[in-house]
Amino acid sequence: MRRAITPGTFDPITSGHLDVISRAALLMDEVVVAVAASVGKHPLFTLEERAELARKSTEHLPNVTVRTFEGLLVDFAHEVGATAVIKGLRAITDFEYEFQMTALNYQLDKELETLFIMSPPRYMYLSSSIVREMGSMHGDISQFVPDCVREALEEKFNYPPELRGGR
Ligand code: PNS
Repeated sequence: MRRAITPGTFDPITSGHLDVISRAALLMDEVVVAVAASVGKHPLFTLEERAELARKSTEHLPNVTVRTFEGLLVDFAHEVGATAVIKGLRAITDFEYEFQMTALNYQLDKELETLFIMSPPRYMYLSSSIVREMGSMHGDISQFVPDCVREALEEKFNYPPELRGGR
């Protein structure tokens, strides 16, 4: 049984995250989407909201489940019996940070492999923070997030009725 975790803050989950999760689900027997509390990042959505949006967005993927976690990623990987961490890699700017996290996690647990899936060009510059910023300005985010996330952002940022539902 090959089980992997795909960790992140998912504030909120985007189409770029979903691309990585669904490709990981093709490679692995089971994928656990690990929604980190990330308290220090002061997320816009609560941990439960982020997990619920991730659940709704992945309900069509039979071998994907969603869990929340606090504390170290390596401890959570042990808890769920995962042997791999799968992450998306976008532009070069991601590399330094991911390199650091991968090296640290490897130092903590040499049996937990970190694998990267390259983002396709259309998601190369997509991030939760860009989506939140667009949402705060009532922008059309429909092509960047699943429908349930678009609706949640429209509520959170109090979109006027004429700007809801994408354009
Ligand atoms: O989506 P993000 O915010 O880039 O995800 C970062 C995340 C949640 C994967 C990372 O912060 C993490 O692994 N947090 C858990 C705490 C931990 O293990 N920290 C040490 C690893 S460097």
